[in-house]
Order: sequence, then structure tokens, then C-alpha cells
Amino acid sequence: MDPVTRLGVVGCGLMGSGIAEVATHSGIDVRVAEANRDAVETGRRRITASLERGVRRGKLSEQQRDQALTKLSFTHDLNDMADRQFVIEAVAENRDIKTDVLRTLDKALEDSAAILATNTSSIPIVDLAIATERPGQLIGMHFFNPVPVQQLVELIPALTTTPETVQRTRDFASQLGKQAIQAPDRSGFVVNALLVPYLLSAVRMAESGAAHPDDIDQGMELGCAHPMGPLRLLDLIGLDTAQAVAESMYEEFKEPLYAPPALLRRMVAAGHLGRKSGRGFHTYDA
Ligand code: CAA
Repeated sequence: MDPVTRLGVVGCGLMGSGIAEVATHSGIDVRVAEANRDAVETGRRRITASLERGVRRGKLSEQQRDQALTKLSFTHDLNDMADRQFVIEAVAENRDIKTDVLRTLDKALEDSAAILATNTSSIPIVDLAIATERPGQLIGMHFFNPVPVQQLVELIPALTTTPETVQRTRDFASQLGKQAIQAPDRSGFVVNALLVPYLLSAVRMAESGAAHPDDIDQGMELGCAHPMGPLRLLDLIGLDTAQAVAESMYEEFKEPLYAPPALLRRMVAAGHLGRKSGRGFHTYDA
């Protein structure tokens, strides 16, 4: 099948902006939707800042940056996605919001063969698929943070997803320069099912006072060659996102190892969300 030339990305937070940026580097025309004008401007700044950083670090030429910017357009109206061949939803990890966005996109898309992908980390794909009129063309496409760096994409077909949709999405992942693995439609898929219990164990270790957060992180960085320790990684993911993912996994399996520890909940309640709020298990410059 022909490569995707017109992509839509809904949500321009950490994940959506990364997905949009990566797609522009593959020469794809990308339309990004956010909820309102302010959110559009924040999203635009986020992508521009990341491209500038690429230029500063010698990864992109100024010409490549400008080329990427010409491939981007922004909207706050999901109906502007009508001509897209492929749309990736990357809004907040909330079932109602995602369902709403996907239903609206489903109605807006002109091409009945267009694919809707969701970047959910933990919501069952089939629940989102059956909420639309195109359950065969809805699939999970789970990216990792930071999207420009992490090579992996998990492809998660629902029971309703057609083999053609899976193949087209796999081809599209290669078009983006990503490596795809197929994951089951169970909360946490492959990677979070293994990662989240580990991250929550680190929170419990800090919560009990058994070890200092710096020692926990250094232990895994220096002892196991992880690029960052578990608490630093939670700060990168966002403690609110991590809590939402853990809750969803707990709801599915009712296993104590997925239950968000009280410390995680209290930190989220206090607004200590990690890097994005400047403070989590560690502190960060604005
Ligand atoms: N955009 C583009 N490039 C970036 C970047 C970003 N946001 N952040 C870092 N990079 C690049 C840098 O340019 C640099 O590239 P070069 O070496 O070629 O110059 C490289 O990544 C390393 O960056 P830094 O030197 O700034 O910092 P670092 O060495 O500490 O690496 C890191 C930062 C890439 C985040 C690394 O620590 C890492 O890979 N950490 C693990 C991240 C991880 O596990 N992510 C998965 C989270 S789980 C998830 O996302 C799923 C979910 O559902 C919760």
C-alpha cells in the first residue's frame, strides 16, 4: 500500500508533539489538533523548541528544521482532520476524553478506509474500537518517551482490528523509522506490564524509607546500566500519567503489584508531577 502522506495527530503534549515531530522528519504532512488556541500555541512552541534543540546539538541542519516546520499545520477543530489518511490520538490518559475524541474523528474522516490509532498506555483497545463506527480500522499504536529517541512502537490490535489495518500500521511505523512489536490487548500491553511493577516497587522502597531516592536511582543506573533510575524515569513519564496507567492495570488484574502506592497518589495530589511541574522525586529547572 502507498505510504501515508497526510497524518493527523490529536494532542500536542509530550507524546503528541514527539510523534508529530518524528513524522515531519519523514516528510509527512502533519496536522496537529489541540483543544483550544492556547493549547495550540503551547504545542507549537513545544515542537519548535525540540527542533531548535536538534539544531543546537548538531542533529538537524537549519534547513531540515525549516523543512520540518513547513510540514506542520495546527488546528483546534477536529473536523479539520477530514482529509487525513491516518490519525493518531495522543490526548490525556482518560477513557472518556479518548472515547469522545475518537468518536468525533470517526465522523469527521472522509475516507472510510482511514485508520484511527490510539496512543493509550493502558485502556483496552477494544473498548475504544467499539465506541466508533470503524472497529476494524482502530488500533493501538503506543510510542515511548521521548518519542524522537525511543525506537519502539507497540502495535496493539483489538479483537475487531483487521489484518490489513495491522499491516498498514506496521508499514507506517517503519515509515517513521520505528521498530514495531505486536502486543496483546491487555492493560499494560508488553512494556508497561513489565515496567510499571518495577517503578512502583521503587516508590514503595522510597516510601518505606528503606533507601534514599538518589541511591535507588544510582543503584539501577550504575548497577544495571539503565539510562535512568526508576524514580527519575517516573519523573520523566509524569507521576499523574504513571498513576493513571497503574490504576488501569490494577482495575484489569486486581494484583497488588499494580496498585499505586500512597506516596505516588499524594505526590500527584500535591502537583509534584515530575519534570513537567519542576518537581517530583527530584527537582528540575523551569
Ligand atoms: N527529543 C529529542 N532528542 C532527545 C530528547 C528529546 N526530548 N531527549 C534526549 N534526546 C537525545 C539527545 O539529543 C541525545 O542525543 P545524542 O546522544 O545523539 O546527542 C540523547 O537523546 C541523550 O540525551 P541527553 O544526553 O540529553 O540525556 P541522557 O543521556 O540522560 O538521555 C534519555 C536522556 C534519552 C531520556 C535517556 O535517559 C533514556 O533513554 N531514558 C529512559 C527513557 C525511557 O525508559 N522511556 C520509556 C518511558 S515509558 C513510556 O514512555 C511508556 C508509557 O506508557 C509510560
